[in-house]
Amino acid sequence: MSRLPIAITLILIAAGNAQAADNGVAISLVEEKCHLCHGTEGEASSAIYPRLAGQNLDYLRKQLRNFRDGLRKSDTMNEMAKGLTNEQIEALAEYFSAKPALSHRVRDKALAAVGEYIFLKGNKFSGIPSCASCHGQEGLGTDQLPRLAGQHKRYVEDQLQAFDQRVRTNDNTIMYTIASKLTELEIAGVSLYVSGISPGEQASTSK
Ligand code: HEC
Ligand code: HEC
Repeated sequence: MSRLPIAITLILIAAGNAQAADNGVAISLVEEKCHLCHGTEGEASSAIYPRLAGQNLDYLRKQLRNFRDGLRKSDTMNEMAKGLTNEQIEALAEYFSAKPALSHRVRDKALAAVGEYIFLKGNKFSGIPSCASCHGQEGLGTDQLPRLAGQHKRYVEDQLQAFDQRVRTNDNTIMYTIASKLTELEIAGVSLYVSGISPGEQASTSK
């Protein structure tokens, strides 16, 4: 065998490894520390654990740093994020944000319709702005704002209550004001509605 192909092969292997390294960091961390609750694909094994698949990159990065630094309180996640470096957080945020998002099948259409109204139009009688004005017509969020589309209903409900009771305080100025005005029916409705928005679906404003 001549020397040239070997040299080229080594370069190719090295390049391949460097590319795989970031992903490799994430995959081993996910398998070691996250998959039990959030799933290897970010699908989440139970409705009390948030789906991370397709969640927005900057939002994931911020929440993980806030858990690590104790700014967002959670018995479970403060422990899980303890000691993660910024590089590991970056790799994890990239890993989960790149996974394809999922959605739920909604059975109670009447309840979801209450939620759709709140989501798209808010409630002018109690001063609730439409969720869509920040989280987007399709619930996709923005870089900093969380995606709600396809999230577990139960997790969304829990978070709205956590904002209302000021348990979630890392960045709750806006969401506290909103959550404190939502009735139980509206919370159940809007959480059900967003859980059923499927990827790429165009929410209809005419309803
Ligand atoms: C034992 C279960 C468990 C494990 C393991 C776990 N999590 Fe969590 N995770 C939770 C729970 C519960 C919440 C909801 C936190 C809350 O607000 O109380 C959460 C929330 C999150 C959130 C916030 C999502 C959002 O929409 O705001 C992120 C990001 C996250 N976890 C990432 C991770 C990563 C990355 C790992 C691995 C390093 C991990 N989690 C390991 C249970 C777990
Ligand atoms: C004015 C902008 C704004 C409006 C309107 C708004 N939100 Fe939010 N929402 C935010 C921001 C900002 C955050 C992220 C807070 C953080 O970074 O901790 C958030 C976070 C959330 C979360 C947490 C998601 C997660 O993954 O943990 C839920 C659930 C939520 N909003 C639901 C709603 C619902 C339902 C409505 C409508 C009734 C609504 N929001 C209206 C700005 C808004």
